[in-house]
Amino acid sequence: MQNKSVIKKLNINYICHACGDSFSKWAGKCSSCGEWGSLEEINEKTEKQLETISIGKILTTENINSDFKTSERISINNMPELDQLLGGGLVKGSVILIGGEPGIGKSTLLLQLAYLITQKKFNCVYVSGEESPMQIKMRANRLHMQNCALQLLATTSLESICATILSMKNTDLLIIDSIQTIFSEKINSNMGSIAQVKLCTHELVTLAKNNNITIIVVGHITKDGAIAGPKFLEHMVDVVLYFEGDQNYRILRSVKNRYGASNEIAVFEMIEDGLKEVNNLSQFFLTNYNKNISGTAIFAGMEGSRPLLTEIQALISHSYMPMPRRATVGWDLNRLSIILAVLAARCNIIMGDKEIYLNVVGGLKLQDPSGDLAVAAALISVFYNKTLPESSIIFGEIGLAGEIRRVQYAERRIKEAQKLGFKVIIMPDQEITDKNFKEVQIIKIKYLKDLVKILNGN
Ligand code: TYD
Ligand code: MG
Repeated sequence: MQNKSVIKKLNINYICHACGDSFSKWAGKCSSCGEWGSLEEINEKTEKQLETISIGKILTTENINSDFKTSERISINNMPELDQLLGGGLVKGSVILIGGEPGIGKSTLLLQLAYLITQKKFNCVYVSGEESPMQIKMRANRLHMQNCALQLLATTSLESICATILSMKNTDLLIIDSIQTIFSEKINSNMGSIAQVKLCTHELVTLAKNNNITIIVVGHITKDGAIAGPKFLEHMVDVVLYFEGDQNYRILRSVKNRYGASNEIAVFEMIEDGLKEVNNLSQFFLTNYNKNISGTAIFAGMEGSRPLLTEIQALISHSYMPMPRRATVGWDLNRLSIILAVLAARCNIIMGDKEIYLNVVGGLKLQDPSGDLAVAAALISVFYNKTLPESSIIFGEIGLAGEIRRVQYAERRIKEAQKLGFKVIIMPDQEITDKNFKEVQIIKIKYLKDLVKILNGN
């Protein structure tokens, strides 16, 4: 009853079921999140929730067993890329959030993963709030899952999920597909609302930690690309993975990983019978590369700790518009503007009256600033209609003074290019510690105009 007085003292009478904020007076629109008709009067249920405050147990670091033995991880042998992405398998008691647009393949990936895990005699429960067991069975057939010991639970009630898992006592992996379809009876809020998603995730995290169960939660993505519900969801879980890509391939990217490196990727192809890992990334992205065309450059970039070669294409044409069109796919438009400005100011390559199109082949979204030089190379190449040196790759960041700035992991990039048979490396003027690059010719450049010289010869 103590808390009742706290609520009264704070003069809290209403709670917004969308954002969870509290108010003294009712209003048609929540002043915190802007949702209409979301304020609800505090009732017995919400009071009861706030009443249960118990004294916590104090632990010291000595009596917590913190070393992750390999037995604390479930390795995914048949999917080495995914295994590596997670930092070496699934950590027991961890919560993994996987976000992505509808139809990208989240359910498919998780079903395949669940199958592999059950084949290794681990117990796995798949909760689907979106598909019926019949639909899941059909998908499992399509994926050729024979003798599958996967356990399915078709419910949307959080309390029912928790009670079922606790009664089973031996679950290793629990998959929730998706968090937006799960609701708790503890609060009077709509399914999929921020308050529900927050509470359900919190309860699932508690379930995972208290019972040493790995939980994978699927989260839908909003139009602007974030997992529905603001950043808090990402803060609550241990690992955050985003699934992105296009028709041909899918990229799973680790945005956060408490047990491994973040910003790593695993690439998959969606084929007739499920997702297949792509093992040689660079080769995959360069399949249709035609070296005799001007306006293309091969960029040796980094995805997390791994080098990845991608093709950058530029196209220019005369414009009759006062504001010529500039369009990019996979590259930031502002960065393109900067590169164009530097080309104009430092190299006298003026394209102000031209329409410019830039494409990163394969649909990858590049964020690595060391791609500047490759973009500039593609532009200069198409401007003069001259191809880059045969079989060359390029990387480097461009500064506003036209200087080429050093980049990280130069050796790894060169090694990858050498592995794929490239012969010429155009890069910033920086030290390379590894002296084993005998098969390739390394051209170091200090200024952007040096690149123009290489291409145009003056
Ligand atoms: P799905 O896993 O249902 O996506 P999500 O759960 O992220 O919404 O993926 C469905 C898409 O994948 C659908 O467009 C069909 C395609 N697909 C295949 O091409 N091959 C397959 O073996 C499967 C199961 C799905
Ligand atoms: Mg799905």
